[in-house]
Amino acid sequence: MTQKNYKHFQLETDADNIAWLSIDKANASANTLNRELVDELDSILDELETERPRGLVILSAKSGSFIVGADINEFTTIKSTEQARELIRRGQSVINRIEGLRFTTVALIHGHCLGGGLELVLGCDYRIAEDGVKTRLGLPEVRLGIHPGFGGAARLPQLIGAPAAMDLMLSGRAISARAAKRLGIVDFAVPDRQLKDAARSVVQKPPHKKPLPFWKSATNHGLVRPLLAKILRKKVAAKAPKNHYPAPYALIDLWARHGGNKQAMLQGEELSVAKLVLGDTAQNLIRVFFLQEKLKSLSKNPFQATRVHIIGGGVMGGDIAAWCALRGMQVTVQDRQEATLAKVIQRAAKLYKKKLKKPRLVQEVLDRLTPDKNGLGIAQADVVIEAIFENVEAKQNLYREIEPQMKPGALLATNTSSIPLDVLSDCLSDPARLVGIHFFNPVAMMQLVEIVSADNTDPEVIAKATAFTRQIDRLPLPVTSTPGFLVNRVLMPYLLEAVVLESEGVSPQVIDKAALDFGMPMGPIALADTVGLDICLAVAETLSQSMNVDVPERLRSLVESGKLGKKSGQGFYRYPAKKKGKPEIEKPGKGDYFPPDIQDRLMLRMLNEAQACLREGVVSDRDMLDVGIIFGTGFAPFLGGPIHYIESQNTEALLEKMRHMHESHGERFTPDASWTSVG
Ligand code: NAI
Repeated sequence: MTQKNYKHFQLETDADNIAWLSIDKANASANTLNRELVDELDSILDELETERPRGLVILSAKSGSFIVGADINEFTTIKSTEQARELIRRGQSVINRIEGLRFTTVALIHGHCLGGGLELVLGCDYRIAEDGVKTRLGLPEVRLGIHPGFGGAARLPQLIGAPAAMDLMLSGRAISARAAKRLGIVDFAVPDRQLKDAARSVVQKPPHKKPLPFWKSATNHGLVRPLLAKILRKKVAAKAPKNHYPAPYALIDLWARHGGNKQAMLQGEELSVAKLVLGDTAQNLIRVFFLQEKLKSLSKNPFQATRVHIIGGGVMGGDIAAWCALRGMQVTVQDRQEATLAKVIQRAAKLYKKKLKKPRLVQEVLDRLTPDKNGLGIAQADVVIEAIFENVEAKQNLYREIEPQMKPGALLATNTSSIPLDVLSDCLSDPARLVGIHFFNPVAMMQLVEIVSADNTDPEVIAKATAFTRQIDRLPLPVTSTPGFLVNRVLMPYLLEAVVLESEGVSPQVIDKAALDFGMPMGPIALADTVGLDICLAVAETLSQSMNVDVPERLRSLVESGKLGKKSGQGFYRYPAKKKGKPEIEKPGKGDYFPPDIQDRLMLRMLNEAQACLREGVVSDRDMLDVGIIFGTGFAPFLGGPIHYIESQNTEALLEKMRHMHESHGERFTPDASWTSVG
């Protein structure tokens, strides 16, 4: 047995002459592919070619993952297409070399095997994955505005057939070891303890590989590709327009043109990814990726909660409780009404079935969620989250009652969406202990959580709330306790402008289309219906007391007539029971009234409010503002956030538009004082 250590690898050759190459990127918690690592791998391959072991097993020395992808930091250093092409060629060439080795190669996969990591293992003869919950395989490149470039687009459709391969590459989703086995991406999915034995026996007696069934391989045929490509383009168009997200279309075009020819595909990948990576969409999506990482890194306090107590089992409290239990905590949930608590458990069970599928796992999580009408959990809880009615007196009465029962050092948080923290904390014997942990609806889908603090909030409490938010896998955004905090404040003027447009006779479809054309994932009218018009009205009314917003009569009248949006079956749109919550939305008709300034009216109100929040210091800086609005409102990620968007435009022209709007539509378009200082 011999062992050699390199900077990022260890190579061990055992008594059977099998070489075990462990990837262990220096000074990193996970393996990512960068130039240095790829160069080192290349030189190890030189040695292996001379040594000719019986077989090569590639594995990861990191505990939680195999290779999580290419090093995205490197993407930001690329300055020219030529430089990008060179980097891609380098990656492709080392994988081609692995593929060309004249002895059996096996990849042993555990944990995340994503992007460039999966492309690397596609160069091996065999792939064995650990059959465990942490194993995830995928090609998420489209999420960063590019597509696989290290041979993934060339190899995967050949390996498993085009429909499944394109689905994975176009969606960017990651799959389990078992799903990968079913699709044919990995040859074996085995438990952890059998991984090494499985690899050894594959090297010693390489199993016969079944060819891809005819009906799958036919999907790559030159006559089939154009037809399939047409279907794929249509499918993608329903989700991501080409002018906003060019990568999936580039991938489909590439495969349609060269799908049967590996060499041409590899060259096409190089050219296409090099072009995409320097484009605005990819650069902005990469920026969003780093901003998201920045939010994750805000959690520095070692606080770890074990027990959480939620008070108020309504829309928010119930879902927060369910989510915390799903993330591993012991949760007690308190409400005045038994019936409400029963509903919390029902909703939670539904969520867990969807997420966990296996009844045993569902039951495990349900066992951690306990209805607690009398609040017995308060005294043991590390975190108490209040999510009762939006009413100062009710909340204060509750705090007075629970403060003496709470453990010292336990976190007391409110989910209030509009009441200033210092007003609420006034009744506490220690007002500095109250913090806002403001979730968005639906809790299980919305990653962002605002961490709200007042001037007197204890910094230690804020740090603990931030750590807790990460513990439950949400993104913490620190904001000041000013009306609407960040997200609702920026969102509301945009939603209200949509309501004003609708009351002027513009159809909801036309309004929503204008926002979708800008790049919003959902139109403002559909969004208002989803959030609930009563909730919109309540937030708008609160904001109207402190901001330049008028509450449109139309919103009030809809709420008064019981039309609350999706939840009541009707809001601006109708939601017939037979369509299971889907709205009846017709496409805008030719005769529809389409005001020429509709998109500006909607978006400028949002951008203007974003500017105001930045100037007032609601968040600490422009990055926090951009990431908050992207994750809190869905603001077109490919534009990199509202402030980034403003700065990338001709600001003078935007300001001119604002002035023009101000003249024609009134006070609500008054440009924020900061407009003159940007650009
Ligand atoms: P909800 O009306 O659905 O639920 C409130 C629940 O609290 C009810 O089940 C009620 O029985 C219970 N409750 C009231 N007083 C109580 C008390 N003293 N002890 C125990 N239980 C009590 O309200 P929702 O929508 O869940 O809102 C709760 C809080 O979350 C509010 O502060 C709201 O501003 C905030 N919020 C709401 C969002 C939404 O979209 N609904 C979004 C973000 C925050």
